[in-house]
Amino acid sequence: MNKNMRHFAIVAVLVLIGAVIMNKLLISVLPLPTPSSAQAESVDSLFRLHMALISLFFSLIVVFVVYAIVIFRARKGDESDGEYIHGNTTLEIVWTVIPLAIVIYLGFLGTKALGEVTQAQPNEKVIQVTGFQWDWRFEYPEEGITSTTLVLPKGQPIRLEMQSEDVIHSFFIPEFRVKQDLVPGHVTTLRITPTRTGGFVLRCAELCGLSHAYMLADVQVLEPAEYDAWVAEQTSQTELPPAELGAKIAETQGCQGCHSLDGSPSAGPTWKGLFGREETLADGSTVVVDEDYLRESILDPHAKIVEGFQPIMPTDYGEKLSDEEITAIIEFIKTLE
Ligand code: CUA
Repeated sequence: MNKNMRHFAIVAVLVLIGAVIMNKLLISVLPLPTPSSAQAESVDSLFRLHMALISLFFSLIVVFVVYAIVIFRARKGDESDGEYIHGNTTLEIVWTVIPLAIVIYLGFLGTKALGEVTQAQPNEKVIQVTGFQWDWRFEYPEEGITSTTLVLPKGQPIRLEMQSEDVIHSFFIPEFRVKQDLVPGHVTTLRITPTRTGGFVLRCAELCGLSHAYMLADVQVLEPAEYDAWVAEQTSQTELPPAELGAKIAETQGCQGCHSLDGSPSAGPTWKGLFGREETLADGSTVVVDEDYLRESILDPHAKIVEGFQPIMPTDYGEKLSDEEITAIIEFIKTLE
């Protein structure tokens, strides 16, 4: 018995040392980005607890196995049978009840954290987020702004109302910790209160097709006064010339997700040098790109398919864009020689 207690004491000490080393190792190889939202602490405390538990159980298993293999190995020349062990009811109850209690407690903590990060705030500012293959668009209904950069005032509780135009995407800014899917046909909500100014990157966290990896957007968290200046600048934009307006619309509509501006191949024909070019269609006939062809290709993109491309362009741009906006995009394409 005395000898058993000695083994137990040694193993207990080794498990603790192993757990501490493992925890330090995990935290250093998997560092969390600087927390930058009010919601981050709820997530981080769960994360730290999980890392500690993972380290403890890893150490517990590895130390027991290695200790048993080394200390209780059959010595050279020992041909005797091993000791007969029937079982240990106390031990079995202990190793069932303790993990069960831990799992129930983790469930409780997870529910509590979820409640904290989804908690409605008194003076929320609503921003509408649209995700599509493969870009993001942000609308500020109060200010009447549409932007491709998500600009947020520091310290202001934000409620993001998110929609997808095609497949499932996922909104994730690692520094803010919280993450939410965008599901076609649903409006999903995410709450963020930014606590640190600076630039961040929004990335899509759901595999959503060819350019999923490039579905990024810039995020700027500004001091409230700078934010007000940004709003004033956005809302005072005077009438742009058609080609410049077209460039802006193409950007907010995400046209360049499929149509490059530099001649590089993508899901759709490049816009570089498109106007006036002779295109060979899938049926072998040719067409010279003029205004009528471009207009038709925007309104009814499957009418003429250029050889080598698939008919995958959305067919609802006639509903989303006004006549003037389509004209502006055509004017923009004309400038891309
Ligand atoms: Cu959108 Cu991945």
